Amino acid sequence: MPSPLLISASLLSADFLHLADQIAACENAGVDWLHIDVLDGHFAPNISMGPFIVEHCRRQSSLPLDVHLMIEKPERYIQAFAAAGADRLSVHIEGNPNIHRTLQEIRSLNVSPGIVINPGTPVSAITAVLPHVDMVLVMSVNPGFSGQSFLPEVLDKVREIRQIALQSQMDLHIQIDGGITAQTLPAAYHAGVTVAVAATAIFKHPQGIAAGVAALRNSIA
Ligand code: DX5
Ligand code: ZN
Repeated sequence: MPSPLLISASLLSADFLHLADQIAACENAGVDWLHIDVLDGHFAPNISMGPFIVEHCRRQSSLPLDVHLMIEKPERYIQAFAAAGADRLSVHIEGNPNIHRTLQEIRSLNVSPGIVINPGTPVSAITAVLPHVDMVLVMSVNPGFSGQSFLPEVLDKVREIRQIALQSQMDLHIQIDGGITAQTLPAAYHAGVTVAVAATAIFKHPQGIAAGVAALRNSIA
């Protein structure tokens, strides 16, 4: 499995009045990707941001834009997010009967496809599409909000996915998202996570963004 761990900073907890400065601070702190949580108020109980914000992030930063779609019928917006500058697009298996086609479409637009499973969804739900993705995102909270508590039971799924990837020689990133802190990250990392998403631990760290990123990195050093 690839190492070292990549950190994807989730803008859901950023200060949007100072987004450019916050993104610059992430870059200076050595964040690897920017994670953009798209919520439509239907798939999960919150409304956040759309292609418009992705476009602005693209203009501000050359960091990979890691877009997490928590929306109904994501296939309707794949092209818009690709055009806005998304480098990676991750879609949930839940409620998406045509997921295979959607993943193919993402790939055809030269965007890196990811599949996401909620805490209540087993790995068996996604095994058929694993050859069509570059990343599996294992949700460690129920989607909707930052600042929720990490659900440690999802690490069994991380281990299961890592096993499948090793056995089938798949070059897969395993991402974890939700409740990642300097306390919860070590177990996730040792279970096989290669990309950690964090919002609160980075943007709400009392000593600032650089200290938040450093605390995450130090936790697995
Ligand atoms: C939840 C989002 C997460 C969230 C993580 O629906 O997918 O990316 O912003 O926030 P923290 O790191 O605070 O749990
Ligand atoms: Zn997310």
